[in-house]
Amino acid sequence: MKKISLIGAGQIGGTLAHLIALKKLANVVLFDVSEGLAKGKALDIAQSSAVEGFNVNIKGTSNYEDTKDSDVIIITAGVPRKPGMSRDDLLAINLKIIKQVSDGIKTTSPKAFVICITNPLDVIVSALQKYTNFKHNKVVGMAGILDTSRFIFFLSEHLGVETSKIKSFVLGGHGDSMVAMLNHTYIDGKPISELVKNGKLKKDKLDFIINRTKNGGAEIVKFLEKGSAFYAPASSGVEMADSYLNNRKKQLPCAAFLNGEYGVKSLYVGVPVIIGSNGVEKVIEIDLSPTEKENFNKSIDSVKKLYEAAIKIDPTLK
Ligand code: APR
Repeated sequence: MKKISLIGAGQIGGTLAHLIALKKLANVVLFDVSEGLAKGKALDIAQSSAVEGFNVNIKGTSNYEDTKDSDVIIITAGVPRKPGMSRDDLLAINLKIIKQVSDGIKTTSPKAFVICITNPLDVIVSALQKYTNFKHNKVVGMAGILDTSRFIFFLSEHLGVETSKIKSFVLGGHGDSMVAMLNHTYIDGKPISELVKNGKLKKDKLDFIINRTKNGGAEIVKFLEKGSAFYAPASSGVEMADSYLNNRKKQLPCAAFLNGEYGVKSLYVGVPVIIGSNGVEKVIEIDLSPTEKENFNKSIDSVKKLYEAAIKIDPTLK
C-alpha cells in the first residue's frame, strides 16, 4: 500500500481521507496542529471500514515523523475564506502556515509528490516549492480540475446534458481571472460555439455561466457562512493523486511551474499537464485564440502581482 499524508485535517482534509479510503487508494496519515481533530476524524473514518469494506490504514497525528516517507502529500493547512473575503485576503496568514508545513515535510518526505490546495493557490504553491526546494515537477497546485468541474456542471445543468458528455477545461490563476477555454469546449461532441450560433445556448447565458464559475467558490462561502467548499476540492485533489500513484498519465489542468511555456517564466499557473509516476511529466501547450491569450495574460499578471505582495511579506521568496 502507498502512503498519502494529508496536512490539514479540516473540511477538505477530512473529505480527502474519506475519499481515499473509499477508493482504497492508499494508507492515510491525517496531520493537523489540532491533534484531536486529526485523531478523531481518522478514527471515525476507520470505524466505517467494516461497512464500506476497505482495508486501508488511517492514522491521525500532529507529529511530522508519522508522515515520514509519504508517496503523496496533500496540503490543505490554512484558513479558509469568510463571506466577503477574496482568496488573496488569505495570503499573509496562509503563507506563514505554509512555511511551517514546508519545514515539517522537507526532511521527512523529500521524494513525495506534493499537491497544494491551500489558497491563494498559485502563490502558495510557488512559496511551498521555494521553501521546500523540492523539484518543480513534484510540487503542483489543485485548482483547474475544480474550476473545470464547476464549469462543466453549470453547463450540464443549463443544457440538460450529462456532465460526462461535456469536455472542457480552464486556464490561468485560480479565481476571478481564470479563463474558460471555449475553443476547447465540446457538448456531446459539438463545439460550444455551434450551440451559441444556433441559439441553443444564448451568449449572455454562457457569459453568466463563465462568471458563475469564476465565483463558484464565493457562492458556496456565502451559503455556508462558515468555511468554504470542500467536497469538490477534495475530489479534484484525489484525481491528481490517483493519476500519480497509478501512473495514469491523465491530462489535467493544474497549477504547474512554467519555464518558458506559454511565454511565462518561473511562475506557477493553471495549465494542462500530464501527471504520471514522474509527477508533472509534461506541460501541454495549446493554441490560444487572441482573446484567450489576452485573458490568459491578464490572469498571469494578477498572479505575478500577488506573488510580489508575497515577497513583501517574506523577502526570502524572491
Ligand atoms: N499545520 C497544519 N495544519 C494547520 C496549520 C499548520 N500550521 N494551521 C492550520 N492548520 C489546520 C487547521 O487546524 C484546520 O484544521 O488546517 C485546517 C484547515 O481546515 P479548514 O479550516 O476546515 O479549511 P478547509 O476548508 O479544509 O480549507 C483549507 O484550502 O481551499 C483552501 O481556501 C481554503 O486555504 C483553505 C484551505
